[in-house]
Amino acid sequence: MNDPQSHPEPSGHRAMLVDRLWPDPATVELGELREHYLAAWPDVADGAVAMMISSLDGSAQLDGVSGGLSSPVDQALMDLNRSVADVVVVGAGTLREEGYGGLRVSAGSVAWRRRQGLSDHPVLAVLSARLELRADDPFLAEAPVRPLILTGTEAPADAVRELAEVAEVVVAGDGPGADPVAVHQEFARRGMTRVLCEGGPSVLSQWFDAGRVAELHLSVAGALAGGAGQRIMHGRAGTARPAELLQVLRDGSMLMLRHRVG
Ligand SMILES: NC(=O)c1ccc[n+]([C@@H]2O[C@H](COP(=O)([O-])OP(=O)(O)OC[C@H]3O[C@@H](n4cnc5c(N)ncnc54)[C@H](OP(=O)(O)O)[C@@H]3O)[C@@H](O)[C@H]2O)c1
Repeated sequence: MNDPQSHPEPSGHRAMLVDRLWPDPATVELGELREHYLAAWPDVADGAVAMMISSLDGSAQLDGVSGGLSSPVDQALMDLNRSVADVVVVGAGTLREEGYGGLRVSAGSVAWRRRQGLSDHPVLAVLSARLELRADDPFLAEAPVRPLILTGTEAPADAVRELAEVAEVVVAGDGPGADPVAVHQEFARRGMTRVLCEGGPSVLSQWFDAGRVAELHLSVAGALAGGAGQRIMHGRAGTARPAELLQVLRDGSMLMLRHRVG
């Protein structure tokens, strides 16, 4: 979601204030939330944290991308979430539409990760069945850490060979696309215990159906998009599940919600 290239708070999140409306109403520095997010992050065995943004009328896009809905605080929160994660997962559609480059967290987040004994940046994991990706795509060419590419059994063999030069290419599951459960097993096998999923809507829908969304962090922008933008989930009719409210943050007219998905 949002602008993946942006590092709005290069020195960390200390200077960014946000209103926590619930629980414990207070004005807090974003950086204060990070230790809590780390402690509360669901284990890979339970699924991922999904981070998405929506307009008030339920659109996941403004002018075809989510970035127009975002704000500097929302961007900083995204950097914070990335900094806590071991792996950041995104579908190839979002990668293409939003123009992902190499996944880097801000300088302040690198410093925090070092203090935790973590690598400087999380691993970017891209889901693609068709593998119409190129070794010189910015997300590969500019990657600070070798990315993962997760695919299915019908992936073209020549693309697998070419991409294996610059990424770890993994067939996860035995279907045409990567299976969400097999993807999480692969992360666990690699010692990646904190998973952040940045969508897009078709990926999130599959992960939700497979019970792999443990938490949803949804920013609700103070804007109406109109038009025919898709929702944050787009897929087959799924099984509805309840969600328990964990936190509400406010920045101006934007609300940032955290829910545990049942
Ligand atoms: N509001 C938000 O928070 C938010 C977040 C993210 C994206 N978006 C918006 O959503 C739109 C893109 O939507 P989308 O649904 O097309 O994006 P998407 O879910 O990121 O991408 C779909 C693509 O991901 C790959 N894919 C999906 N499931 C797969 C699986 N199980 N195994 C392997 N590959 C898989 C396929 O790529 P291949 O075609 O390469 O096989 C598929 O075409 C953009 O406009 C973007 O701006 C909004």
